[in-house]
Amino acid sequence: MTSEPPSPFQGAPDAAARHAELAAARALGEALRLAVDWLRAEGSETPALDAQTLLAHVTGATRARLLAYPERALSPEQAEEYASLVARRAAREPVAYLTGQREFMGLTFRTDRRALIPRPETELLVEAALREIRRRLDNPARPAPIAADIGTGGGAIAISLAVLEPRLPRVYAVDISPDALALAAENAAALGVARRVIPLEGDLLAPLPEPVDIILANLPYIAPADAHVAPSVHGYEPHLALYSPERGLAHIRRLLEQAPAKLRPGGSLFLEFGYDQRAAVEELARRAFPTAAQRVGADYAGWDRYIEIHLAPGA
Ligand SMILES: C[S@@+](CC[C@H](N)C(=O)[O-])C[C@H]1O[C@@H](n2cnc3c(N)ncnc32)[C@H](O)[C@@H]1O
Repeated sequence: MTSEPPSPFQGAPDAAARHAELAAARALGEALRLAVDWLRAEGSETPALDAQTLLAHVTGATRARLLAYPERALSPEQAEEYASLVARRAAREPVAYLTGQREFMGLTFRTDRRALIPRPETELLVEAALREIRRRLDNPARPAPIAADIGTGGGAIAISLAVLEPRLPRVYAVDISPDALALAAENAAALGVARRVIPLEGDLLAPLPEPVDIILANLPYIAPADAHVAPSVHGYEPHLALYSPERGLAHIRRLLEQAPAKLRPGGSLFLEFGYDQRAAVEELARRAFPTAAQRVGADYAGWDRYIEIHLAPGA
């Protein structure tokens, strides 16, 4: 006999039974309670948020309304659709793939398995680049800067820059994955900037038709052997977007080696990296641009997560 409390998994109904029970729910509050129980039993770290977001997606109601009116009815079709989505979430599929959208920089991006889901820490990279772009645009003695987002995925970085800074003449959006580029083009059209966001397929800086002033990149930077990658990430997001050889640094190294030929004099780079890669990235940046100024920025948890590299004017 053991004196330990019983495991929450003991006696838990299996997925088929939970699915049937949830599909039979006829009120919002009941459905939410069953879904939260299911997701918690499967180890979700955010069961209530996930359950509410998915039910809001199915019913078209806000999360606030779901919570305010738990007695409101759920149709059999809605309950069945909800049960199917919660089952996929219980199997670790990311919520943004289930709902097909994610907020980034206050904009709504379409998300699906063609590309990585944009992350909140990447907003800090965009904010830093926007400050530099606006500094340049505010100087009437300089021509308007041209930017390039390398490894654009679903286009979150390039499109945010184009939407939030209408004075930016064009942003190149490069990716080696045609699937990701197709999603980026859909997002650019949906957000009204298809004319100024130019998709280019190819390897890193190779497809750029002209040197640029600003290079941004959130490239793959996870070491292929990293055992800490969450199942929801490794199991669902494109491996082309996640992993890079050389302990996660090969893409950043190659981009920095190519950059001197593709950056205009006085240009700037903004590169995201992994929480333990600061020293290695600073060294790669020094090798590529020995006289440039470097600045490292941290994410909301305090980890160093991106580097700015500013070439001296004329350098
Ligand atoms: C970490 S994801 C970033 C996606 C998006 N920029 C974001 O921040 O949400 C990296 C992207 O780099 C692309 N990629 C991988 N290798 C590449 C290469 N050699 N040249 C260009 N893009 C590449 C992947 O297809 C993926 O879309």
